[in-house]
Amino acid sequence: SNTSMNVSVIGTGYVGLGTAALLAHLGHQVTGIDIDNQKIEQLRNGQVPIHEPGLDALLESVKGNLDWSTSYDSVARADVVFICVGTPPGKDGTPDLQYVASAAEKLAPHLNGHAQVIVNKSTVPIGTGDYVQRLLEDHAPGYSHERHRVVSNPEFLREGTALQDSLYPDRIVLGGHPDALQIMARLYAPLIEQTFTPPASAPRPETYTRPAVVNTTLQSAEMIKYAANAFLALKISFANEIAGLCERVGADIEEVATGIGMDTRIGRRFLNAGAGWGGSCFGKDTAGLISAGREHNYNMPILQAAIDVNTRQRQVIIDKLIRHMRSLKGKRVTVLGMAFKPDTDDLRNAPAHDLIARLYQLGATVTAHDPIAMPRARREWAHLTYREASSVQDALHRADAVIIATEWQEYRDLDWSALLPSMRGCVIIDARNIIRTPIDAHVEQIGRNAPAAVPVTR
Ligand code: UDX
Repeated sequence: SNTSMNVSVIGTGYVGLGTAALLAHLGHQVTGIDIDNQKIEQLRNGQVPIHEPGLDALLESVKGNLDWSTSYDSVARADVVFICVGTPPGKDGTPDLQYVASAAEKLAPHLNGHAQVIVNKSTVPIGTGDYVQRLLEDHAPGYSHERHRVVSNPEFLREGTALQDSLYPDRIVLGGHPDALQIMARLYAPLIEQTFTPPASAPRPETYTRPAVVNTTLQSAEMIKYAANAFLALKISFANEIAGLCERVGADIEEVATGIGMDTRIGRRFLNAGAGWGGSCFGKDTAGLISAGREHNYNMPILQAAIDVNTRQRQVIIDKLIRHMRSLKGKRVTVLGMAFKPDTDDLRNAPAHDLIARLYQLGATVTAHDPIAMPRARREWAHLTYREASSVQDALHRADAVIIATEWQEYRDLDWSALLPSMRGCVIIDARNIIRTPIDAHVEQIGRNAPAAVPVTR
């Protein structure tokens, strides 16, 4: 179609692959670039290096608009270049910008005479847009301040629902010079107007309305991303803090969350008490904001408290176990769920990691299970000592206690009455509050009395 634009996407991680698939689906010509030759080969062969529901199908359906390369040549014909590389936390929580810098330096020589927008999609510290602009200036012979503008366009997608989140966003945040924002508005027109055909793998929600567009400055757009994640993180920590008090006074955090969540100023979402937040974003972004504050001699006590509560929450789970078992020496403890949340194999900052490490330290024999993350854990958690179970049945066989660390659907659906007889003990720490019916075991949940209305007879 005549509205089709040319796009290069640098980086083929979660954000890059999602962005490439989205833009190709909107009808643009997209080249995905990565320095990792092996990843590019895989993608050319139709293999997707990450697990994200529906992404394989979407990439397959748009492959006519997509190609993959280790070279930056496509930048020369691109109207828009997305930087979607990783920004891992460095020392003291400051994100490491070496990949962003290297992407900017490598793309710069390919910039030329036509208007080209360079988009920061990675979560980067406030001020990085200006920094990238300076790198382009220094490394692009054909650089012109009028033609080559940097835009901040943060993503708000969650792993596991990345396609829905990017196709049907509640808002699109764009920060930068108005000329560049006009080009971005053209790029996203089918998304803003919702004129694209929803892919089979990600149908449009029934109640969905078109996204709001927030046009703002580079700095505000960069801040919006951090502040949004930090707010969500502190919402969860708030729920966990209240949950601890609920347990002590006999209240139920689920009912409390429902009750306060009905106030539209508060909202029910992200008030689930449990194992505390994990994943790649919340820890990094809260720490990132605190470190930005530190640079400016500015304290951020609320964020620090959110982090402290989250750290404490891991120990809260262990403490519940110890209360039932006294000593964990020689006890068999099973951890159900390793991924930091369901529907992903992402293990970054997963509560299960700390739980397994701590249980082992306390002398327990640890068995762990996850519906999909176990192969990845074999590589990334090689430093931990645990036995990998082949099934939930295998995981629970002769176990003294179980900790539910991730709320996989498979675990919600478990028939405990069939599983309990094979266990040696009957302590279940349900750190995700997923057990809904009374079962014949010592069940501990977070912030509420477990639904163990039945006296334990075993
Ligand atoms: C998050 C943000 O939601 C997303 O907008 C941002 O772009 C990236 O970071 P993600 O890390 O994929 O996305 O996971 P999310 O679903 O937000 O969950 C984060 C963590 O919080 C998980 O460990 C989850 O278990 C936990 N969580 C979430 C709770 O403990 N309680 C809740 O109520 C919600």
